[in-house]
Amino acid sequence: MPTRRFLITAALPYSNGRLHVGHIAGAYLPADIYVRYLRATGADVRFVCGSDDNGVAAIKTAREQGRTVEELTAYFNASQRDSFAGLGIDFDIYGGTHQPEYVELHQKISQEFFLKIHDKGYFTKKKTRQLYDTRAGQFLPDRFVKGVCPHCGSDNAFGDQCEGCGKSLDALDLVNPVSTMTGTQPGPRETIHWYLRLDRLSQRLRTYLESKRDQWRSTVINFALGQIDTDEGLPERAMTRDLDWGVPVPLDDPDAKGKVLYVWFDAPIGYISFTAKLCERLGEGWEAYEDWWKSPDCKIVHFIGEDNTVFHAITFPAMMLATHDSDSVTGARGEFQITDNVVANAFLNIKFPGQEEEKISKSRGTAVWIEDYLKTLDADPLRYYLTANAPEAQRAAFDFDDFLTRNNTELLNALGNFVNRTMTFAHKYFDGKVPHAGAPGRVDTEQLDRRQAAADAVAGDLERCRFKSALNHMMQLARDANGYFDATAPFRTRKTDMDACGRAVNVCLQTVRTLTTLMAPFLPASAARCRTMLNLDDDALAWTSAADRLPDGAPLAPPQLLFKKLDPDELFAE
Ligand code: MF3
Ligand code: ZN
Repeated sequence: MPTRRFLITAALPYSNGRLHVGHIAGAYLPADIYVRYLRATGADVRFVCGSDDNGVAAIKTAREQGRTVEELTAYFNASQRDSFAGLGIDFDIYGGTHQPEYVELHQKISQEFFLKIHDKGYFTKKKTRQLYDTRAGQFLPDRFVKGVCPHCGSDNAFGDQCEGCGKSLDALDLVNPVSTMTGTQPGPRETIHWYLRLDRLSQRLRTYLESKRDQWRSTVINFALGQIDTDEGLPERAMTRDLDWGVPVPLDDPDAKGKVLYVWFDAPIGYISFTAKLCERLGEGWEAYEDWWKSPDCKIVHFIGEDNTVFHAITFPAMMLATHDSDSVTGARGEFQITDNVVANAFLNIKFPGQEEEKISKSRGTAVWIEDYLKTLDADPLRYYLTANAPEAQRAAFDFDDFLTRNNTELLNALGNFVNRTMTFAHKYFDGKVPHAGAPGRVDTEQLDRRQAAADAVAGDLERCRFKSALNHMMQLARDANGYFDATAPFRTRKTDMDACGRAVNVCLQTVRTLTTLMAPFLPASAARCRTMLNLDDDALAWTSAADRLPDGAPLAPPQLLFKKLDPDELFAE
């Protein structure tokens, strides 16, 4: 079988704040699990992320904090990078669309992208009216204006997108618009912008989306098709803005002066420019990004939070289609390949002990910040909880009581305890070596067979991005193994029948071996500890070796505890 190739992206976080558990559960953790799994199957994978530095989000926060945008985005780019690293979310590159090392290549690739679409005739230059704040003396694109959504009536709508229904918007359609800069009511004023002809792309876009009906999560595909299947179809959308921070519009046209690309135009191109940077760093030359983005044998998969769906399932694919010479909906070799999958999770609410479940909010202080979490706790328990309780099909909540309970009962009592008692037993009574397997009886064979079955079940789910269910299959193997341990009772047979005792411990060690491979995508630090205890090398984590047998007599390293009991008093003191 030829090596499978994947280019995996996780949504570029805005570099205007710290990361909290909602971000991690939404996009980054599932992406990391997927990448680790794919690599274990032998796939060739590049995992790309970085900060989204352009656009109004950064300008606005910088202004509020009295810092320059450069300073603000550099600070949060570094802070986010540390948070990801602390959680074992292991990108091949973490760039930034306006960070010194990346900005030049990013602007170049973004501008070429824009020009290509321009040459293909998929932009219309239009004189239009935009909301203008006379007190601030500037236009109010995107998050600089808030109002009521014309589609769903939510009062949480910004100039480019409604947070209530997720639709993309034109600021002029907002009901009761208010400037978020000055709080005044803005009025329309004339300006010129370049609009992407989404209307002319919708036929190809629909064909593409229809082909994804059975593959994508229903939440994502239904939302995307719903945007196209309306009476009005897809409206044109402005891809330029009157701002002085971003990627300059690369046209030799006086009307383009002082304008930049819309942040949702340049940000997804960040995936491409960071890939190019990575290729450059690896000595392949930056142009080698085409090997990943323009090659039909490489699958491109985006991991995002649900509010990003319209941009990844509609706008970005439309941008790619607009660069094509051919009419194909996928792209010929040498043209941008359209996304294979968009994996979106819903939001995470939060529930503090004794309080009602509520939305995560920076301003109200209802968030669990990764920086804070990592000061006292390990990554794996959070990775476990956020996967076991992932908002895959609908919203879920980070519930502190539940986090503690699951850590202490599932992670510690089921998985950690099984590994620990097996390892301890082998050390105490079998001289730190794998005891002889002997002739297996029915219960032994049953337990041994569960290992491959679990490996297949976990893989089947991970291939389909069903992370929660995949984790559950791994945990079921641990629970069954505890059942086997109790039933064969090596703690009793060691006094009466050393052969039977050795057989049981052997089967348990074989199960620990399998669990090591199966837990690795979810709990990488714990898997590394298991690998050390079993004296396995890196290759042993290959998915096809998951049910390999440890040979009789193989030496084991001393036991190490995988998980700690968490004490509510200590945790809630924080
Ligand atoms: N910055 C956006 C957000 O946090 C995500 C950008 S994803 C990309 O919602 F595709 F644009 F890069
Ligand atoms: Zn709405």
